[in-house]
Amino acid sequence: MGLSVLVEQIQNVELKKLLSTVIIALLVSGYLVVYLLSHTPRLPFKEELEFQTIDGESVVKENLPSVSEQGDDDILLSVVVPSYNETKRILIMLRDAISYLQVRMPRRWEIVIVDDGSKDGTSDYCLKLSREVFRLEKGQLRVVKFTKNRGKGGAVRQGLLHIRGRYGLFADADGASKFSDVDRLLTSIEKLEGSKLQAAVAIGSRAHMVNTDAVVERSFIRNLLMYGLHTLVFVFGVRSINDTQCGFKLFNRQAINAIFPYLHTEGWIFDVEILMLALRKRIPIAEVPISWHEVDGSKMDLARDSINMAKDLVVIRMAYILHIYKDDKEC
Ligand SMILES: *[C@@H]1O[C@H](CO)[C@@H](O)[C@H](O)[C@H]1NC(C)=O
Ligand SMILES: *[C@@H]1O[C@H](CO)[C@@H](O)[C@H](O)[C@H]1NC(C)=O
Repeated sequence: MGLSVLVEQIQNVELKKLLSTVIIALLVSGYLVVYLLSHTPRLPFKEELEFQTIDGESVVKENLPSVSEQGDDDILLSVVVPSYNETKRILIMLRDAISYLQVRMPRRWEIVIVDDGSKDGTSDYCLKLSREVFRLEKGQLRVVKFTKNRGKGGAVRQGLLHIRGRYGLFADADGASKFSDVDRLLTSIEKLEGSKLQAAVAIGSRAHMVNTDAVVERSFIRNLLMYGLHTLVFVFGVRSINDTQCGFKLFNRQAINAIFPYLHTEGWIFDVEILMLALRKRIPIAEVPISWHEVDGSKMDLARDSINMAKDLVVIRMAYILHIYKDDKEC
């Protein structure tokens, strides 16, 4: 007996409706489960990592410190730079950051470059710069390299979970933001954490620049895609934040421990999941206007990545609603 015969035999209209609803629900949740399983919310295995420090010419493998342990009181700020094929852009960013750090907080900082499986020798280039151009001391700059590309979210997560400092900043390698604006983020986060040093987040925001030339100069299609994505973020993501995507975000150790072990997304949409987790855990977030200029050579494929971001966003929201993603269970 075929399915159609069976369906015809079901005379009751209500029952038919119920059945089709159940079938659609099964298909949708089946797709969701497959999609979620294909995501890999896990830290990289030891074999997938290489650690490098500027300590001598040779590669030094070391165990990374964990952010869940006691930090190093001597280090105030850890700067995590997710990098993929960045030999062309990272020098400007590092120069900006290091010249600021050396004056503002001498010896109280570290830089962690997370090389997300670059193919252009980004790791070696950064180590060379730190020895020969910046003449850094041992431990001031470390490189962690993924043997395979995982995505920016995965790189930021790996970096922040292994910092030594009291605060962890992640900053894009393109140098689009002015590094000294970290001052403003530090001031804001200190206000939020108060004397009890509760978890707090301060994020850079470009929202105040929305009507300037930087936006007008973009192509129509680019603006359209960004507008669509912003709308989706507003509907499915977070509403209380104007600029979720800025690559300049500061967390204290408490916030890193409360957010990053639970982060599922490794792709471009991870910024939104970070903020979703912070809001769910009632961690205060300060949105701080920073200066920023557009830099060429974005690693985003606008059409493909926008669509993936939209899909990921809906999946994340659904997964939290259906309790598939939990914010109290490490992944
Ligand atoms: C990264 O660099 C390698 C080698 O230069 C190149 O083959 C590859 O296409 C680059 N990947 C991207 C996404 O630019
Ligand atoms: C976010 O946008 C709203 C509306 O444009 C504005 O009132 C608010 O001040 C903005 N907040 C920040 C932090 O930029």
